[in-house]
Formats: sequence, structure tokens, C-alpha cells
Amino acid sequence: MNFIFSKKEIPRIAFLISGRGSNMGAILKNIKAKKLKAKPVMVFSDKADAQGLQKAKTFGVETKSFSPKEFLKFEEYEAELVKVLKDKQVEWVICAGYMRLVRKNILENYKNRIVNIHPALLPSFPGLKAQKQALDYGVRYSGCTVHLIDEGCDTGPIVLQKVVDILPDDTEETLSKRILKAEHETYSLALKKLFNGFELNNRTIIFK
Ligand code: GAR
Repeated sequence: MNFIFSKKEIPRIAFLISGRGSNMGAILKNIKAKKLKAKPVMVFSDKADAQGLQKAKTFGVETKSFSPKEFLKFEEYEAELVKVLKDKQVEWVICAGYMRLVRKNILENYKNRIVNIHPALLPSFPGLKAQKQALDYGVRYSGCTVHLIDEGCDTGPIVLQKVVDILPDDTEETLSKRILKAEHETYSLALKKLFNGFELNNRTIIFK
């Protein structure tokens, strides 16, 4: 199966976050510095007290928040989120520490245009606490992965990865910090490549 995305003008993007939003901040900084061409139209969080929402405001980006708990069914939450994204004519959805699975409705509306960053070298250590999983396993290297989101958990086509050494005295905290630095460098680069156009050949992304 081939999927082709051709470069358009400046893509309209929205972020989905659940917490600190440092990846979002790094990307917004690169957009502001004109290192990445994109128009951030909204930052959404499923948590009203997410630190990242305040950060988004300092960049002048509109924020919105509601929780699945406010809806009877998860599908209704996602339907509302899709409506919000469509109202803002969002073209790409950028997950940055959004600690939920993206389900059917968003996937169908944004096929191959939902991106995520994960703090490990996928397919190793998907899911939660990826840095701890890597330390517990005893691997010598870990890193970060930017990937497109599909129906699985951290299973979508890989856009870019960056390797980070694991040091003998690493703790979950020190490793997470080193990986986060790599994340901040890698995410904008990955978006730049995607926005420039790509072809998806089965699982392999070929950049234009
Ligand atoms: C980042 O390390 C990101 O890779 C991770 O959460 C952190 C969010 O930090 N995401 C996941 O683990 C998703 N499975 P941030 O809010 O400062 O960008």
C-alpha cells in the first residue's frame, strides 16, 4: 500500500499534550525562529492543569482543554476533539506527551497525519515508562523515535530516531533527561521532513 503526501503551503498544526509540553515548546521555538515552517493554530490538553498550556500561551497559541471524564463515552470525547480540530482547519496533529491512545475517529480523519514522539528506540519498549523499561532490560543504547500514529500503541511507521548512550550510573531520571534533549532536537527535524512531502511504502517512509 502506497500513501503519498505532497508538500503544500504552510501546514496548519495542532498539538495534543497532557503535561509539561517541553517538546511542544521546542517545536514552537523553532517555528518562531523560522527553522520550521508551520502554523500552530491550537494546543489541546486532556488535562486542564497541564503546564504546557501556559507555555503555549507565552507563544501566543490558542489553547483548549477538556477531559474524557466530561463525556459519557470516550467516542464522544474524541468526536468533540475532531470537531475542534476541524473547526480550526488543522491539517496535522502533533502528539507531544499526550498520554492517551488516539482512537478511531481521529485516526480516520487524520490518516498518516498524526505524529508522536516516544522516549525509546521503537519497536523496543513501547508504552509507559519507556526509559525505565530500557534500564531494567540492560540495553546499552536507547533514544527516541518520532513515528506516525496507527491503531496500535507506538506501532506506526517510523519517521526518525536518535540514539542515546546508556551510562553505567544512569538512573531513570538522568536517562530521561538525556533522551529528552535528543527528543527536542529530533522532533522538529522529523516534522520538517514530513511537511516537505513523503511517500509511505508499506511501513517505510521515503522523504521527497
Ligand atoms: C516525553 O519524554 C515524551 O517522549 C513522552 O512523554 C514526555 C513528554 O514530555 N511520551 C510518551 O512517553 C508517550 N508514550 P514533554 O511534555 O515535556 O514534551
